[in-house]
Amino acid sequence: MINDARIETRAVHAGMKGLRAAGLHVPPIDFSATSPLGGVESGGDSYENLAMGGDLVPGDSAVYQRLWQPGVARFEDAMSELEGSEGSVAFSTGMAALTACLLASVTAGKPHVVALRPLYGGSDHVLATGLMGTSVTWVTAEQVASAIRDDTGLVILESPANPTLELTDIRAVVDAAGSVPVLVDNTFATPVLQRPLELGAAISLHSATKYLGGHGDVMGGVVATNAEWVVRLRQVRALTGGLLHPMAAYLLHRGLRTLPLRVRAQQATAGLLASRLVGHPAIARVLYPGLPGQDPSGLIGRQTEGAGSLIALDLGGYEAAARFTEACSLITHAVSLGGIDSLVQHPASLTHRPVEASARPGAGIVRLSIGLEHVDDLYEDLLDALEAASPVALDARELVAP
Ligand SMILES: Cc1ncc(COP(=O)(O)O)c(C=O)c1O
Repeated sequence: MINDARIETRAVHAGMKGLRAAGLHVPPIDFSATSPLGGVESGGDSYENLAMGGDLVPGDSAVYQRLWQPGVARFEDAMSELEGSEGSVAFSTGMAALTACLLASVTAGKPHVVALRPLYGGSDHVLATGLMGTSVTWVTAEQVASAIRDDTGLVILESPANPTLELTDIRAVVDAAGSVPVLVDNTFATPVLQRPLELGAAISLHSATKYLGGHGDVMGGVVATNAEWVVRLRQVRALTGGLLHPMAAYLLHRGLRTLPLRVRAQQATAGLLASRLVGHPAIARVLYPGLPGQDPSGLIGRQTEGAGSLIALDLGGYEAAARFTEACSLITHAVSLGGIDSLVQHPASLTHRPVEASARPGAGIVRLSIGLEHVDDLYEDLLDALEAASPVALDARELVAP
């Protein structure tokens, strides 16, 4: 890699080491579940090392795909390059990545988690149920320091948060957490906009299913972290088996190569749409951190390069939200986000349904994931859906400046 190369260059070339010498232009996909061995001594050292979360012994057999896989290792190297981490560990989904972090913490005798709401509904659910043997204290950023206990193993936050897109000052939470590792779910920002490890966080976690893959055709999760956590997480992965499939690793690695372009283009469209939608009579509130007054701590530019490409609209109530969601046409009504095509969903009914009622997003909130379509086509679709959402919006086209 060129020293100090920009993120666009690094995204294209990361994880490609050794390919040219092997006469290859793109990473090969190796589906082998097992690696044929030489003598009985062959593979033993690697097996022992890998099962304990260590490295492949140079020159030794990789033994078995659950322990090590070359395409997964390439994707992990690329993620480490983009996040600026000592290493990365990839999993079958974002939830597998999160539960591995929780399990590693419980195993280390630190079952208590301090978490900031809102989080993705599945993350909230796994913490609230204590399924992985954790207990949780829900806090605001200001309450983090006082919630830390001797057995606290992780502080968990999302910024921007799912689905309300509030930003949290990561550095301030890291300071408040003291020696307790801070896990930032960086799914919404991606390493293009925000690199939590540079802000003192120990772990940057992704649902790779979203922006990293970017095309809605692959599931995965990945954790970029320090060398100590890499070992712990690889061990959890080797023993629980939540590994990434080689085909998924290939697609995610390919997705990374266009990540900066996609993230910036989608963000530019989202910014335009958010400002066009402000003041629309059918919308109680446009939630987008790039809008005036929605980043009171000035984190855009300091912590994150931009506001991202998710927008939440508060349509005032369930009925309007339901009518809007169902009336979107170009924009597909589906969960997930971060792909090249725009999606809309109603968090209170779906992704955040398991969240306890007092912490669930409002029934009037819909979440939009803005893709790569032309801004004017998306705007037209949104205006049509808003018209369907509320009789008040019938003459919205005249009222809203383009
Ligand atoms: C912010 C965030 N984190 C984690 C997850 C879980 O990821 P996955 O669905 O890949 O398991 C999601 C899924 O929507 C998410 O939005």
